[in-house]
Order: sequence, then structure tokens, then C-alpha cells
Amino acid sequence: MSTYPGADDSKGQLIYRGAEADLVLGRWQGLEAVLKVRKPLAYRLPVLDDAIRRQRTLREAEMMHQAKKAGVATPFLYNVDVPSATLTMEYVRGDRLRDVVGSMTAKETEGAFFQFGRDAASLHSAGIMHGDLTTANVLRRDGSLVFLDFGLSYRTPRLEDHAVDIRLIKETLIGAHHREARSALEAFYRGYSEGVGPARHKAVLRQLRGIERRGRYARVE
Ligand SMILES: Nc1ncnc2c1ncn2[C@@H]1O[C@H](COP(=O)(O)OP(=O)(O)O)[C@@H](O)[C@H]1O
Ligand SMILES: [Mg+2]
Repeated sequence: MSTYPGADDSKGQLIYRGAEADLVLGRWQGLEAVLKVRKPLAYRLPVLDDAIRRQRTLREAEMMHQAKKAGVATPFLYNVDVPSATLTMEYVRGDRLRDVVGSMTAKETEGAFFQFGRDAASLHSAGIMHGDLTTANVLRRDGSLVFLDFGLSYRTPRLEDHAVDIRLIKETLIGAHHREARSALEAFYRGYSEGVGPARHKAVLRQLRGIERRGRYARVE
């Protein structure tokens, strides 16, 4: 793994190996920290690969900050190292929502997904599309939620883009949390509606139905 000044990854422990990034638990200037290292991908042209990794690293840092400004919790960012495409951030001691949905009480599920919907609404109201809104990218710590993985986020006020976010969480719930999907989605929508307002909520749902009719990859410009 690449090293850079300030990081001590000799003691680093790999906590997650993704398609694009490795997540390493290490230290940053004495603090416990998570390093998100975007790895070179052999199938991409190297010059293009470098540019993409740097761009997503910068984007993720920027959008974590934007999310915070919108009132949505994201990990504290300690460092952004563009050449090595590495973000160093607070280690959030929590559980991935994906891993705990099955063991939460009905009341906890409702509370968590209401909050999830509220937070998604806060992002959208601030003109932010998350871009990968799944239960794997949300941690639950002491009953509150922390959002991760902003590498594909961007600023957009478009109904279509917001509906795409909602579509992904809906698909995730139905696909990965079938048993809880109905009540979780209902709570999510309640939170979302409260956040964006009932008129916008309706409009997003209408757009979502349109997307579902058009099929997976179709887009309206
Ligand atoms: N700051 C953090 N604190 C604790 N765990 C984290 C943190 N960042 C990432 N993780 C863990 O690593 C996983 C992958 O991180 P993520 O940013 O979603 O990368 P990817 O783009 O590969 O999905 C998350 O699902 C979470 O379990
Ligand atoms: Mg992720």
C-alpha cells in the first residue's frame, strides 16, 4: 500500500476491500483513523486511471463537506492526499445499516429509516445527489446515522437525479432486506416527505414510477 507523510499504515488493518478502494484502519497523527485508498485499476489506461482516482478522491472530500453543511453527518475528514488518492478520516465505531437491519426491533427499524429518509431529504434539498444510496453506505452509531461513500455524489437539483437515489434505496431494501422492506420504506418515505415537503415528495415518486416504467438504464434528458 502506498504511504505518505503523516500516515502510519505499517500497523494498518484492512477492514474492507472494495472494487475501487481499500479501507484501512490505521492512525493519523496519533488518532485512530480510516484510510480510504483508491487503488490503481489495471483495466483502465494508467493516465485515465490516475485522473479518475484523484477526481473521485477530491469529489468525495468536497461532498462530505457539502453533506455536513446540509446537516447530514459524515466522518470527520483528517486529510486529503490527492497524489495517492487517499482520504484519511475518523473511524466511526458503528454498524453498517445493512448488517443490523435484520436484528433491530420494529421500532428501531422505523426510527432508523425515518432518519435515513430525513437525511436523504436534507441532501436533496441542498441539491446533492448521493449517488450510491444503499444500506452499506450508512453507519449507525449510538442510534444516529453517519453517511459514507460520496465518491459518486454531485450537485444537482434535478428531480430525475433525486429519484434515481430513491430508486436505489428502494431496490436495496427490496433486494437485501426483503422482510423489513415494507415498513422500512414506509418510514423512509415519511422522513423524506417531512424533509422535502409533500409536494416535492409526490413529484419524486411520480418521477420514480416513470424511471421504473422506462427500465433500468433508460434516461430522460
Ligand atoms: N470512516 C469510516 N468508519 C468506519 N467504517 C468505515 C468508514 N469508511 C468506510 N467504512 C467501512 O468500509 C466500507 C466501505 O467504505 P466505502 O466508503 O463505502 O467504500 P466503497 O466505495 O468501496 O463502497 C463501508 O461500508 C464501511 O463498512
Ligand atoms: Mg460503499
